[in-house]
Amino acid sequence: MHIPDWFPDHPPIYDIEKTYLENASDGPYFNAKIPERPKTDRCVDFFGCRLNSPLGIPAGPLLNARWIALAAKLGFDLLTYKTIRSFAHPGHQLPNMIYVKPSSEESAFVSEEPNRLEDLMLTNSFGMPSRSPEFLLEDIDRANRSLAPGQAMIVSIVGTPNQGVSFLQDFVRAAELAKAAGAKFIEANLSCPNVGKAEGQLYTNPDAVYEFAHAIAKAIHPIPLILKTGVFPSAENMRTALEAAARAGAKGICGINSVSYHVVDQNGKPALGEHRPTSGVCGAGIREKAVDFIRTASSIIRKEKLDFELLGCGGVVLAEHFDELLSTGAKIAMSATGMMWDPFLALRHHWKQAHDKTKAHSLSL
Ligand SMILES: Cc1cc2nc3c(=O)[nH]c(=O)nc-3n(C[C@H](O)[C@H](O)[C@H](O)COP(=O)(O)O)c2cc1C
Repeated sequence: MHIPDWFPDHPPIYDIEKTYLENASDGPYFNAKIPERPKTDRCVDFFGCRLNSPLGIPAGPLLNARWIALAAKLGFDLLTYKTIRSFAHPGHQLPNMIYVKPSSEESAFVSEEPNRLEDLMLTNSFGMPSRSPEFLLEDIDRANRSLAPGQAMIVSIVGTPNQGVSFLQDFVRAAELAKAAGAKFIEANLSCPNVGKAEGQLYTNPDAVYEFAHAIAKAIHPIPLILKTGVFPSAENMRTALEAAARAGAKGICGINSVSYHVVDQNGKPALGEHRPTSGVCGAGIREKAVDFIRTASSIIRKEKLDFELLGCGGVVLAEHFDELLSTGAKIAMSATGMMWDPFLALRHHWKQAHDKTKAHSLSL
């Protein structure tokens, strides 16, 4: 079956000219017919839940139950409900996403929309907006109910400093909110590149990883806790952080988060304004880092005999990119930016699987 192209003829299903709240209330911007999904035998076990495939979407693009419901129909089987806080929070103003091209390891400049998905790279800077607890209690339940058999949803959470309790206690409050809303799996975001450094780089500090993961895992028991991390400064740092996470009771590791870059305009000035000199970069340009992350993490998990599910994301913009993460050691492979610019990404992969299987079968006859 031929899945019609989406990019560049159609705009992304998230409108980057509009605010996060406009996208939440009017999006996803998708009104096409969804192609049929083929039967494939790619089931995976995810904490005792049988998923129809190992394909998913990490925290970010799925803003509410409507976005989750569409992603599920589009053939993604592990959906992440966007990161929530313990209270309503507006996040950053526009612009939130700009096309970029890297100019060095740590900087990128503003660019035009690319012609090919392989060159799709953006900075995203949202500051993790969140709806009110009242809204979330209803909406997370609605999102869970929109899934088909063989699909599951993770709720991503984050803590906020200076909310009248400690940063750690607010993380626990957000986790308890997710649990009360009916989350089956909870992911703690220890790695947002668009907030303060101390909050955004928790994952690189093994003592902090232990302290936060232990408190959250205890509060949400028996719900499995997944930790979202970014790129680690070294393999040794990753090893000590993963060991701390395992001791603390975390059950899954998801990486990588967007990679922090200095994003500048044509005049060399911060493209998102003086207050946002750095921001997370996502899309095709970070795939190598994501594959490297999964390779190193899976080797550490094996060597140290850690009991983790490994979820990979970063730079998956074509169907075959899922396989790169899966064959390197990820149990689940996910796409955020890629699925926003090509909502048929999972279906392309399912059809590729079905086609490869038919071909292998006919060769064996
Ligand atoms: C629009 C957008 C919003 C995001 N928001 C979050 C978030 O709230 N929490 C989080 O842990 N990661 C967030 N991310 C990061 C993604 O989960 C993912 O780690 C990263 O984008 C790399 O994957 P990609 O290259 O497929 O986009 C966001 C990414 C995008 C594109």
